[in-house]
Amino acid sequence: MLSAFKKRMEPLWKPFLHRAVTGRWELPRLTAMKAPWPSGLQHAGLYLHVPFCRNLCPFCPYNRKVHTQSSYARFEHGVHTEIDLYAPHLKGTKIDTLYIGGGTPTVDPEALVRMVRHIREAFPGSYDGCVELHPANMDDACLDLLRGAGITRVSIGVESTTNRLLTLLGRSQTAESALGAVRRAVAAGFESVNVDLMFALPTQTLAEWRSDLEAVLSLGVDQVSTYPLFGFPYSERGLERKLASIERPSSSLIRSMLALTQAEAARHHLKQCAVWSWIRPGRSKFSSITRHHYVGFGPSAASMIGTAFYVNTFDVDAYADALTRGRPVALILPVDRRLEMAYWLYWRVYELKVAETEFQEIFGPDASLEATFGSVTRLFKALRMVEGNPGGWHITRRGAYWIHRLQNEYSLNYINRLWGACRREAWPREVRL
Ligand SMILES: C[S@@+](CC[C@H](N)C(=O)[O-])C[C@H]1O[C@@H](n2cnc3c(N)ncnc32)[C@H](O)[C@@H]1O
Ligand code: SF4
Repeated sequence: MLSAFKKRMEPLWKPFLHRAVTGRWELPRLTAMKAPWPSGLQHAGLYLHVPFCRNLCPFCPYNRKVHTQSSYARFEHGVHTEIDLYAPHLKGTKIDTLYIGGGTPTVDPEALVRMVRHIREAFPGSYDGCVELHPANMDDACLDLLRGAGITRVSIGVESTTNRLLTLLGRSQTAESALGAVRRAVAAGFESVNVDLMFALPTQTLAEWRSDLEAVLSLGVDQVSTYPLFGFPYSERGLERKLASIERPSSSLIRSMLALTQAEAARHHLKQCAVWSWIRPGRSKFSSITRHHYVGFGPSAASMIGTAFYVNTFDVDAYADALTRGRPVALILPVDRRLEMAYWLYWRVYELKVAETEFQEIFGPDASLEATFGSVTRLFKALRMVEGNPGGWHITRRGAYWIHRLQNEYSLNYINRLWGACRREAWPREVRL
């Protein structure tokens, strides 16, 4: 009874931290209104969301549906229209990267390459292309097509190398086929190969987690990203189990698995580069959501254009229909300078370091980290979670775990509320985060 009550309570410190970081007491609220166009952006990332998979994993929180020819055709037509709509508004903007996520972006590799080519024509420049891959949808012909279309970084969803756990997760792959897929990606010569692993899975032992890490790290991948399994109430598994709130593995289990991950990564000479990612020194990082300004294409794609954060409708048919009239934007959060700074800080903290020069590059030479976030950093420094360095500060090893817990308070709840509402309705009127 007490634990159920505790679960429902927002932590008491939350409004105070929110006020210190964003400068306001009110919590963000996304509403259905007209979205501004990006204007005058110096740099931006591009994102393409492909909301289809061959097989749906029941724990998955992402916007995706089973691939069918007809639905995919409507989606693809919509994406080409959306690219053309944005092209005049990003003239003069330097594109830094193209990130393609899903779903499974390679459910139809030829169609994916058509969309990538169109993006590169509409937004010229020599930027990296990053794609999320599913081990069962990345044969050699697909990898060749991706390389030919300028894709330089890939991330593969291996999740586990224990067949019992892959079955429990409902994954359409075996440990052998997934590791074979990683070997082929490494041999194909991409600039960066990341592998996603999941841990704190029901019944998973520490020995199994160690052997997952060992199996993947010994293949020479550039980066490994490790995620504890979260139960989202709106996912198929969450609905089946009638989850009322997000289910998280116990803190002690996460801590012991994280300590093992840190030790194994160090033994293979990898360095922590984000809360849950480790990279081989000197290799380029595979990262999805940490660009400051970006424009997203496809159902459920989000955009952050400085003055607003907004998200497209999640529904493929609603997306395609809306594009016959205009943009398919469902919900908007207007962003002022202080909120934009808070948004920037959130992702730098995720990457474990915060640099004054980068802050000033974005917000101008008069912007000061100390003047904006001094009260927050002093608190975290006192708790030994943050240390100062000459150009800013970084998160300590002790801090990495707690910062992750803290960020989860926000991101998991945001995802659950925003994505949950957008999956229930194509055009929700309002979502309070
Ligand atoms: C879009 S998927 C990756 C690409 C591809 N669809 C696949 O599954 O192989 C992104 C990653 O999120 C992680 N993930 C998915 N559901 C999760 C959950 N409920 N909790 C924690 N991590 C999750 C998995 O590691 C997964 O590889
Ligand atoms: S985890 Fe990947 S393959 Fe599974 S449903 Fe989610 S997006 Fe699709």
